[in-house]
Amino acid sequence: MIFRQLFDSVSGTYTYLLASRRGGEALIIDPVLEKVERYLQLVSELELKLVKAVDTHLHHDHITGLGALRDRTHCITVMGEMSKVDVVSMRLAEGDRLGIEGIGLDVLHTPGHTVDSYSFVLGDRVFTGDTLMIRGTGRTDLESGDARAQYDSIFNKLLKLPDETLVYPAHDYKGDTVSTIGEEKAFNPRLQVRSVDEYVELMRNLHLPNPKMMDVAVPANMRVGLPQEEIARRGWAVAATEAKMLVGDPGVALVDLRERSEREKYGVIPGSLHAPYTELQENVRPGGMLHELAAATGKRVLFYCAFGERSAMAVQAAQDAGITSACHIQGGLDAWNKAGGPIAR
Ligand SMILES: [Fe+2]
Repeated sequence: MIFRQLFDSVSGTYTYLLASRRGGEALIIDPVLEKVERYLQLVSELELKLVKAVDTHLHHDHITGLGALRDRTHCITVMGEMSKVDVVSMRLAEGDRLGIEGIGLDVLHTPGHTVDSYSFVLGDRVFTGDTLMIRGTGRTDLESGDARAQYDSIFNKLLKLPDETLVYPAHDYKGDTVSTIGEEKAFNPRLQVRSVDEYVELMRNLHLPNPKMMDVAVPANMRVGLPQEEIARRGWAVAATEAKMLVGDPGVALVDLRERSEREKYGVIPGSLHAPYTELQENVRPGGMLHELAAATGKRVLFYCAFGERSAMAVQAAQDAGITSACHIQGGLDAWNKAGGPIAR
């Protein structure tokens, strides 16, 4: 496995780049905007294909690199389902698996630092975001922070992992890079409490100053979605209410870009084909399945995904590859459900 821990010294943020092999698919956790060029250089040096960019939670102290990485690589942006950011390509919940080629991370919802804090378990290691840090825990006094919830996340989820599990946090300010669950249980001063009430009291008395970048970072991180206006302005977007009328239309090929796990969990639009976003380039190029389908049948190719972001990128890629009928359901299955569209399971 390729595993890189990268550091942004301005915000004290750790970013992790994972891949199962040189030349394979890669995933990045908690990228920082100012470091995007560095990540892309490393991705290219290791001949990787960045397919997913994940934030463990809404950050207060730096601007996320999610949007910039998506714009540069057309990767899928991922956050937890509790996140209030405008649009990410994919949302995960506890029990879901975050997968790329050769690697699967188990998702834990670990609220407390924020309500949208998630941890990701990968075999012998766990990425804890700002829930559990090395000899510390994430502050719980900002917007959706909740010390009681954090106690539960730490004591009843993270500390239940095997003692030898490696702990990789989203930040460190002292120079520590990695710890273990057993070490934190024994030596993390915040965890030496006898009850949840004692923990809440300890967290209440920290009186920390606000993060320096907070007033800039939070609004920027709330608007991480791909601007879809340009796609709509070119006439390549179909509203969910209109799209409902196209189910069963023989002149339309509905194409689902989501992953198998999303299709199983949330259902599909009846009659749609499955062509996962990660295989898009092979499918839209001349000779590819969608290219040939459009050419042979004259059908209009109508993409959809979870929130309209993967499909917006797919429309552009398909149009660039000469599929001039390509369009997408704006807002994805989320908008479809809100419009009362039928779902097959
Ligand atoms: Fe944070």
